Amino acid sequence: MTQTSDIGLIGLGTMGAALALNIADNDHQVSVYNRTASVTRAFVAGAGVLAERLLPTEDLATFVGSLQRPRTIILMVPAGPVVDQQIEALRGLLEPGDLIVDAGNANYADTNRRAEEAAAAPYDFIGIGVSGGEEGARHGPSIMVGGDRGSWLRLAPLLKAIAAKHEGTPCAAYMGPAGAGHFVKMVHNGIEYADMQMIAETYSLMGRGLGLDKPAIAAAFDQWNAGPLASYLVEIAGRIARSADPLTRAPMLDVILDKAGQKGTGRWTAIEAQHLGVAVPVIEAAVCARNLSAAHGLRQQGADAFGAQPQALPPGALDLDDLEAALIAGKILCYAQGFEMLTAASDQFGWDLPLPEIARIWRNGCIIRSDMLNDMASALDRGPGEMLVFAQPFRGLLEQHEAALRRTVLAAIGAGIAVPALSAGLGWFDSLRTRRSPANMIQAQRDFFGAHGFERLDGRDAPHGPWAATAA
Ligand code: 6PG
Repeated sequence: MTQTSDIGLIGLGTMGAALALNIADNDHQVSVYNRTASVTRAFVAGAGVLAERLLPTEDLATFVGSLQRPRTIILMVPAGPVVDQQIEALRGLLEPGDLIVDAGNANYADTNRRAEEAAAAPYDFIGIGVSGGEEGARHGPSIMVGGDRGSWLRLAPLLKAIAAKHEGTPCAAYMGPAGAGHFVKMVHNGIEYADMQMIAETYSLMGRGLGLDKPAIAAAFDQWNAGPLASYLVEIAGRIARSADPLTRAPMLDVILDKAGQKGTGRWTAIEAQHLGVAVPVIEAAVCARNLSAAHGLRQQGADAFGAQPQALPPGALDLDDLEAALIAGKILCYAQGFEMLTAASDQFGWDLPLPEIARIWRNGCIIRSDMLNDMASALDRGPGEMLVFAQPFRGLLEQHEAALRRTVLAAIGAGIAVPALSAGLGWFDSLRTRRSPANMIQAQRDFFGAHGFERLDGRDAPHGPWAATAA
């Protein structure tokens, strides 16, 4: 076959198919390959005018042979062992200079390993985090790139062309070596879980707590989306609350089973935060809330045993302005934690992650895109290393909205309505401003049962307590 395509893409699932169309739409000839040939044929048959820029191939050798050298091959296959199998299958067909691009939701540790393996293999390897769902992949995702700089420079024109733009600036950037791109994408997803959970908690308080119907809830989200909370996730929350089920005409939310799915990237964020020793309790609460939501049977048992129905909030306990303010404060606390995690990873892994750039490429294309990220990018530019809660305008917003967050969490707890993410945010905030924490008791206990020692406030060298001599 003549070498006609400048890009190859393997894996024509939802995201792969959308990305292939996006690349073709940007004037590239794309060879496509899927393990099941009928999927490839159906994809190209349904591609309309873009079909002429798509070259369907039905075996890997033909696929590789159809690519201009040095070859660029994008993998959009399920994360995990399938990526390794695909690389293994390609290995014998590639030559030095060829570049494999893993665009799936890989675990960054796998990307680190694959980058290392590539060093001794006849191909280069780069891992890119791609966010934005199907719509983003098709019309402009946010792209977080990890790998060697040379591969980034080679790919940059393509990635910037297919990425979303924020006021003309492409939402695609180099994050750092090896797994850095997938790490940043993982934290993006952890924040995504947290944003979604806090939105769900305010939805719960509006419905159960304030007794609002779905149109009123939709109107509240719409209104919030016109203010500081303007974001894709708040926007779709309003649209979702307004949707009716075509089968029953009931509000769509009333027919959807309340068991949250997850593919694991939020969970990875919580796990990695613990490895790094960073507190990201809002993200952890969001992951735990999904886990507990999925334990549907257990929740029915709990409701039977301890009483099911959360009480409505007492009249006047909360209003919609409180909920908006609570969500603003919760969001700032959550993003401060997420960026702290990125800072810790950058230090521990020697990555030099470009924090302002991360906020910039999250302003459009990705699932957590929001207006607030624009101010976050400016704050991170102005005060490198400063935690977001201390930087303006966020410090001022927290001062302004802390009371409403506290009222919201208090009212919810009083009524028995679970708000794990919002209350985790508040707990973190209260801990953050505790000058003298109760950890002196923990240190004393560690020393009591394990002679682990402690530092003294007066700096004197007496690291153990008189425990044996103290009466029981
Ligand atoms: C994105 C999303 C995407 C993710 C889905 C589902 O940035 O486009 O994060 O990568 O796969 O949102 O994730 P869960 O199944 O874990 O909710």
